[in-house]
Amino acid sequence: MSSPNDYWIAPSILAADFARLGDEVTHVLDAGADIIHFDVMDNHYVPNLSIGPLVLESLRRHGVQAPIDVHLMVKPVDRLIGDFLAAGADYISIHPEAADHLHRSLALVREGGAKAGLVFNPGTPLTHLEPVIDLVDLVLIMSVNPGFGGQAFIESSLDKVRAVRQLIDQTGHAIRLEIDGGIKPDNIAAAARAGADTFVAGSAIFGTADYASTIAAMRGALAELD
Ligand code: DX5
Ligand code: ZN
Repeated sequence: MSSPNDYWIAPSILAADFARLGDEVTHVLDAGADIIHFDVMDNHYVPNLSIGPLVLESLRRHGVQAPIDVHLMVKPVDRLIGDFLAAGADYISIHPEAADHLHRSLALVREGGAKAGLVFNPGTPLTHLEPVIDLVDLVLIMSVNPGFGGQAFIESSLDKVRAVRQLIDQTGHAIRLEIDGGIKPDNIAAAARAGADTFVAGSAIFGTADYASTIAAMRGALAELD
């Protein structure tokens, strides 16, 4: 199990003001974020369209040095992996339904020097994990159906977090366990108790006036678990 100090807050820039994205990212990092969650949507695998590798490259050029956690909701996925590696991604996560050859796609991420993530929708069984667990640096449990920010947290995702936590602990590998969708100061502790160590939050952070106090409230809820 991760130590409490090892919790990461990952603001999803999907909820940021895109007209001022560079400043939004700088601001949320100054407010205490650990890693930037970057949602890529293609209007094919999910019914929404967001941002691509050029935007990531621009953030790097803007001076953002923090780790960037790319969540690919695109199909097909392999060609974009190369683009995101070149743009400066640190983590690249893939949905098994979007990869024709999951093993190859995860290997591509690692061979390109990034960390590989595997994502589970609320309706996706965990059976996809075992055959590729040695290729995975992060497991992302969706606590909403992918495609939109601001949706309600699906409680049953906590059971999945618990199950993945057991699997990870059995491997003894340093695999991050991330949860994404509807995370707020009032449910982050429940997610941590279930075994998550990395918390994506879009609207809960960017929808508030004071990012630092929202992130502090999240850390406060996590600290109470000690
Ligand atoms: C949904 C995205 C999420 C989303 C989370 O498909 O993967 O990262 O931005 O937004 P909130 O925190 O508002 O549910
Ligand atoms: Zn996401």
